[in-house]
Amino acid sequence: MPDTLLDMRGITKAFGGVRALDGIDLTVRRGEVVGLCGENGAGKSTLMKVLSAVYPHGTWDGTIHWEGQELKAGSIRETEAAGIVIIHQELMLVPQLSVAENIFLGREPRAAGGFIDFDAMYARAAKLLADLRMGHINVARPVADYGGGECQLIEIAKALSKNAKLLILDEPTSSLSRSETETLLGIVRDLKARGTACVYISHKLEEIEAVADRVTVIRDGTYVGSAAMADITAHDIIRMMIGREMTSLFPREDHPIGAVVFEARNVTCLDPHNTRRRRVDAVSFQLRRGEILGIAGLVGAGRTELVSALFGCYRGPSTAELFLDGQPITVRNPRQAVAHGICMVPEDRKAHGIVPGLGVGQNISLSVLGRYAGAGLIDEHRELQDVGAAITRMRIKTASPLLAIARLSGGNQQKAVIAKMLAPAPRVLILDEPTRGVDVGAKYEIYKLIFEFVKQGMSIIMVSSEMPEVLGISDRVLVMGEGRLRGDFVNDGLTQEQVLTAALTPLDAAA
Ligand SMILES: Nc1ncnc2c1ncn2[C@@H]1O[C@H](COP(=O)(O)OP(=O)(O)OP(=O)(O)O)[C@@H](O)[C@H]1O
Ligand SMILES: [Mg+2]
Repeated sequence: MPDTLLDMRGITKAFGGVRALDGIDLTVRRGEVVGLCGENGAGKSTLMKVLSAVYPHGTWDGTIHWEGQELKAGSIRETEAAGIVIIHQELMLVPQLSVAENIFLGREPRAAGGFIDFDAMYARAAKLLADLRMGHINVARPVADYGGGECQLIEIAKALSKNAKLLILDEPTSSLSRSETETLLGIVRDLKARGTACVYISHKLEEIEAVADRVTVIRDGTYVGSAAMADITAHDIIRMMIGREMTSLFPREDHPIGAVVFEARNVTCLDPHNTRRRRVDAVSFQLRRGEILGIAGLVGAGRTELVSALFGCYRGPSTAELFLDGQPITVRNPRQAVAHGICMVPEDRKAHGIVPGLGVGQNISLSVLGRYAGAGLIDEHRELQDVGAAITRMRIKTASPLLAIARLSGGNQQKAVIAKMLAPAPRVLILDEPTRGVDVGAKYEIYKLIFEFVKQGMSIIMVSSEMPEVLGISDRVLVMGEGRLRGDFVNDGLTQEQVLTAALTPLDAAA
């Protein structure tokens, strides 16, 4: 086919004894957007690392044809020169370097005499970011000054500066807000109009539906099929991904809700860099036994700050009056929180959730309790049994409990983090974006676990940006906006519109 840009055939790749990819085919035509779908651990990122020569030719089997020629690239440099540019799932920016230096790392514009032409570099970086509607970013400042969504867009600017013929986006929106996601989808469409092809990986199927011309699905390292997006629905993709029908995405179960267990009054968090600004402003709420309390709101509404203050890990000045069973408690650090039976699964697993160099099993058994209370003697036999049970229960896909956790696929790392926080059996479990980067099947498993826990009397506070998830499993929903509580709804047929309206309407304006 003359318009075929990329043709991968029979790609097979093993790590040790485990086959991550087993005879995968993938074709991309010029200017086409192909959605690559599959459950956590299916092999999507690995396939893209084969294509971009993160895994060089010779470390895998099969063939890659690029613009009609066989490609046997030995390094990323070669694939980039050919026009294949990848934005990895885990960001690769250097925090200490400036935004512009990151964008042009290794390709800095030079002036006569060979010196880096900073003026040209800053101007080009600023132009790229302005095109991404990120003109407010100061390209001379270090990347460390910017948050997750901004870093993601800086990575995208970097990729765009390389004039790709094929752009690979591996979970590009996991830390983007709704409007940033819209911007990104617009960019993908613009690029396509200019003839740039794209492989788009996302667990958010509405994004795949919005941009993909065609979809290729893989499962457990094997090829399932490809279809034109016009011929299939998100439902079909899910069935191909998990290999069975999925009738409901939310396994809602009736469960009794008891008396108030936990209460927070006047939680206030000041911005660490500007203490006159309140990130959370006098938020109060109650949590009942067996209740699932969802916290919704737009990015920057103060949700993560609020729950961090409850867990004693907010990075700045904060005050709160907390009560457990009606008695005042003090929580100045996570150790005190855990001692009171309050545990949290943090939003950013890379920074707080995992110890990358340790095995999956060690990460799970390294529960907050053990870590802070001093483990004493460890019963290794018991530990192995518990870890084995957790891996089975959470369906964590790992070759062995001893495999370094950083080697797991993104979603499987998330499941391991949740398993770890459940080891001390808390009374109040705080989950901050628990299913970020997790596939639909695994999400379902996580929700099932949440319902199991509340049936046993645990209470859950769940921060989530995914509205269907908040509405799908919460008993009650708190809505935050600009650090304040803007709504407290019993979830009895609550709609997205009601939540969004509350998030966007300041209380004084509503009054
Ligand atoms: N360097 C490695 N060493 C050992 N195993 C690995 C390595 N990289 C990936 N794997 C394994 O290969 C399989 C495929 O992983 P991959 O990261 O490609 O999945 P994925 O489809 O991108 O999943 P996710 O949606 O969670 O990002 C997984 O079982 C993973 O544990
Ligand atoms: Mg991946």
